[in-house]
Amino acid sequence: MAIIAMRDVVKEYPSPKRGGDPTRAVDGVSLDIEAGDIYGVIGYSGAGKSTLVRLINALEPTTSGSIEIDGTDITRLGESKLQAVRTDIGMIFQQFNLFNSRNVAANVAFPMKIAKVDKAKRDKRVAELLDFVGLSDRATSFPDQLSGGQKQRVGIARALSTSPKILLADEATSALDPQTTADVLDLLQLVNREFGITIVVITHEMDVIKRIGTKVAVMEHGKVVEHGDVFSIFSNPRHRATARFVSTIIAGTPSDRELEELRTRHRGTLVTVSVDDHQTAPHEVLSRLIGPGTQAQLVYGGMNELGGRSFGHLTFELLGEDAKVRESIAQVAQIASIKTLEEVAE
Ligand SMILES: Nc1ncnc2c1ncn2[C@@H]1O[C@H](COP(=O)(O)OP(=O)(O)OP(=O)(O)O)[C@@H](O)[C@H]1O
Ligand SMILES: [Mg+2]
Repeated sequence: MAIIAMRDVVKEYPSPKRGGDPTRAVDGVSLDIEAGDIYGVIGYSGAGKSTLVRLINALEPTTSGSIEIDGTDITRLGESKLQAVRTDIGMIFQQFNLFNSRNVAANVAFPMKIAKVDKAKRDKRVAELLDFVGLSDRATSFPDQLSGGQKQRVGIARALSTSPKILLADEATSALDPQTTADVLDLLQLVNREFGITIVVITHEMDVIKRIGTKVAVMEHGKVVEHGDVFSIFSNPRHRATARFVSTIIAGTPSDRELEELRTRHRGTLVTVSVDDHQTAPHEVLSRLIGPGTQAQLVYGGMNELGGRSFGHLTFELLGEDAKVRESIAQVAQIASIKTLEEVAE
């Protein structure tokens, strides 16, 4: 069952100008997030990602549509019942949002204090959580004595303190360097695996989703334009926005500019073959490509490893008599997708 089920969710903000058109920050989103997923939501700035998160968290009311959290439609709940739903949802932020005047232990304990958990239980849980995030020795430090990565670990410990079922991460690694990002993403994956917490990861970096995502939705202008499991989205993006995000980390077909460049050095027929080792053995593709009388040289692209599966887009220059080259292409077309790259139009 979906732990988060959104149906036709719309969020409009009134125009700052009197009589102006409202902004549709979220425009008819329907999405099911299954319990146990690490669900990535990717989109450019202004796509509506943070707004969507605030709606899931019931920090703002929806304009229309429904959002069910674990079977409860939160768009119809009063404030007191919403409080209960919110304790099931933890959240971490790009700027960490820690209290600078409180030490690490007090930051982690804060949501439990609000939930009126008694002091002995709080202390025990804080110790467990700091141990889990690797900061046991920093309990009495203050946030400004910590690095960004350490601050985010405190943020994660705090978010987990009330044992939520869902963790929302809005650009949680965007302020961190690549190594620290990798460490924090590993920690989020551990949170998911160890406690079975469903995680929604908001990001504009495809690499974040590639590292830990199980599913992904792509947002553009308030709409989800494409969604699915990470492997199928990465290996076969259909929407233009998706293809652009995927191309930031996966070499697909050469762009027009790259093709022009390749043409100056490679006069033969250029073809791009898409390979997925669950469908076709890559060596089978190669042996068909290099048929009798044709030679192939790899000029662009590469293979990727994702979820125990290999796939990639490989661009070859084929050399040989026209008829032989055509025969090789026909042979490959029987078992894999192959595309001949046309000259770039002047
Ligand atoms: N409180 C608000 N009042 C008015 N307009 C808002 C408000 N919050 C967001 N918007 C508008 O809604 C749209 C979506 O904003 P949102 O912050 O959800 O985008 P985002 O995808 O999170 O962007 P970013 O990657 O920059 O964080 C934008 O056009 C924004 O200006
Ligand atoms: Mg945002």
